[in-house]
Amino acid sequence: MKIAFVGKGGSGKTTLSSLFIRHLVASGAAVVAVDADINQHLAVALGLSEDEAAAIPAMGEHVAEIKAWLRGTNPRISATQSMVKTTPPGAGSRLLRLGGDDPIHSKLAVEAAGARLMVTGPFTDEDLGVACYHSKTGAVELYLNHLVDGPGEYVVVDCTAGAESFASGMFTRFDLTFLVAEPTRKGVAVYRQWTDYAADYDVALNVIGNKVHGPDDVAFLRDHVGDDLLCCLGQSGAVRGMEQGRPFGIDDLGERDRAALATLQAAVDGRVKDWPKFTRQAIEFHVKNARAWANAAIGEDLEAQVDADFVLGEAPLATRPS
Ligand SMILES: Nc1ncnc2c1ncn2[C@@H]1O[C@H](COP(=O)(O)OP(=O)(O)O)[C@@H](O)[C@H]1O
Ligand SMILES: [Mg+2]
Repeated sequence: MKIAFVGKGGSGKTTLSSLFIRHLVASGAAVVAVDADINQHLAVALGLSEDEAAAIPAMGEHVAEIKAWLRGTNPRISATQSMVKTTPPGAGSRLLRLGGDDPIHSKLAVEAAGARLMVTGPFTDEDLGVACYHSKTGAVELYLNHLVDGPGEYVVVDCTAGAESFASGMFTRFDLTFLVAEPTRKGVAVYRQWTDYAADYDVALNVIGNKVHGPDDVAFLRDHVGDDLLCCLGQSGAVRGMEQGRPFGIDDLGERDRAALATLQAAVDGRVKDWPKFTRQAIEFHVKNARAWANAAIGEDLEAQVDADFVLGEAPLATRPS
């Protein structure tokens, strides 16, 4: 399953991503964690030191190699340089298994809290603008678009919900999106913005209340987001302790917060994989991006990259080139 955490900066995206990742690992699941947040804090939230975090190779600096590998022998992609972040897989493309022995996982992922962690590398607000070709999160989109995740496998992406993720279609790449919201007007404003963008697409979204203090906070969130509110976490002393440098394990969380994490997992596990939809949306956004900027940027008709007979999933994985 592909899972995104989005929300306002400071709402707790990274914290809740890291707690959910630890929860999944503790349940015995295979987990890939991806830090695609504008502030790269996931590694430290997963217990790595600042030095270890700084040493993780950045996906954003290896986009050309990622493209070259994923392109494989796909004849519809004329050259690695013609591959843009929305270029969908087709016959001949190399597909990825979660944590597989491909060069992307083996070169870019490090172990953190029992998960395999990859990071986009730091980026700025400017990277989130319309100059899409050089986008740092493009590497994550390519990764997700070529990843065949099986049952019991999870990829958790700590995302920046900037305009770019809507323009490129990144927001449609997930089986479930968790929008982290504090019980404040600003917290719920992001929810409205998100549901406006996502309204035309079939995107599954749940709100997770964070730093919730009591029933009034829950009622506030419920008033604004209705049934999209899945569960709430409180202000956690154990999380604060971790910020202060104390060792942290998932067992240090309070009963209620642990129950909330189990609720998150149950919501994810309740999703049914829809590979045709995943493939259709990838193509839709590729065509959109081709017409908007990519055809002009590359000097080629990139709509010709679409392999209309191809559907991502277990079937093409079985026949992939070595
Ligand atoms: N449930 C929580 N309990 C205690 N502190 C929290 C909790 N959630 C977030 N925080 C703290 O709030 C701050 C912002 O959280 P962070 O996860 O970095 O937000 P984001 O990734 O959305 O910018 C951090 O200092 C973090 O430790
Ligand atoms: Mg963050």
